[in-house]
Amino acid sequence: MNILAIETSCDETSIALLKCNGGLKSPKFKILKNVVSSQIMVHREFGGVVPNLAKREHIKNLPKVLKKIGIPESRLKKMIDIIAVTVGPGLEPALWTGINFAEELGKKLNKPIIGANHMEGHLYSNWLPITKVKSSKIIFPAIALIVSGGHTILLNMKSINKWTKLGETLDDAAGEAFDKVARMLNLSYPGGPEIQKIAVKGNPNAIKFPRPMLNKPNYEFSFSGLKTSVLYYLRDNPKTKKADVAASFQQAVIDVLTKKTIRAAGEFKAKTILLCGGVSANKPLRESLKVQSQKLKVNFVVPDFEFNTDNASMIAAAAYINLLQKNKKRLQMEAQGNLSL
Ligand code: KG4
Ligand code: ZN
Repeated sequence: MNILAIETSCDETSIALLKCNGGLKSPKFKILKNVVSSQIMVHREFGGVVPNLAKREHIKNLPKVLKKIGIPESRLKKMIDIIAVTVGPGLEPALWTGINFAEELGKKLNKPIIGANHMEGHLYSNWLPITKVKSSKIIFPAIALIVSGGHTILLNMKSINKWTKLGETLDDAAGEAFDKVARMLNLSYPGGPEIQKIAVKGNPNAIKFPRPMLNKPNYEFSFSGLKTSVLYYLRDNPKTKKADVAASFQQAVIDVLTKKTIRAAGEFKAKTILLCGGVSANKPLRESLKVQSQKLKVNFVVPDFEFNTDNASMIAAAAYINLLQKNKKRLQMEAQGNLSL
């Protein structure tokens, strides 16, 4: 089955074309095209994503991104079986642009459309072709940590489509905390990569920031207090070395994410730990979870860097895995800003 997927939930306009086959036990994905057009430079001067600017840019970029796929519509019509589009969660004005574009294209090419959940996309990005790790390494039960700009979720997965949510953030998401702390340090948006970059020159043990919820016997997260601690620290120590603040903050986030994930893996006897979402691009976080997984003799899987942040390939993967579940309720074709997993 060939799926053309469209993603516009935040500030990346992306279209991908994937060849998908195999069943739920071992779905296989071949990425024929994956084009991502980033709006980062448009939002940077505002320090974050402005929903109406995102909408305007998506409307402008969608036809260009489709063109960049490099396949004329007459051939696309012959090639593709279905069009998938993100319907949520995300910024509603941005989501609508993708949905409207998908519907128009569907009519033009006479193809059905299926809605996809962006968070399922992040989760299933772990099944996309990965160079170093084979998806055969994904053995259940598995613990999945999804860390993005809007979400921090820990799942206990019994199989590819059956899971229970162990916990999520009670306030800010991990990526949001990176973005907000970066702004305090006068670093540009998105903050995660900037903090990672300057943290290399800092000491992660220089400042003892709190590890929120670390010792609570649950799997919830909270990053708002940590963010406030950084704010007060900067107010009280204006001459402090930025790199030390960045490194110490990053280490606090990594400690909480790693320890809770590893504890869950132990408690639920997981055979695999999956890491995904934009923050999974963070190298020290990947390294920390990798080392701790090895100690626990649990497989560790993280998507290639290309698929950590928003992309349409993961949306095609989510749509295919949904299509394999004949009885699963299909998503409404409308923007659902707060759609949950
Ligand atoms: O998944 P994503 O692309 O979009 C959402 O679904 O939210 O995640 C974006 C988030 C941003 O908060 C960004 O700062 C963070 O991922 N991020 C990182 C890194 N790269 C992106 N956070 C920490 N370290 C990174 N290297
Ligand atoms: Zn995302």
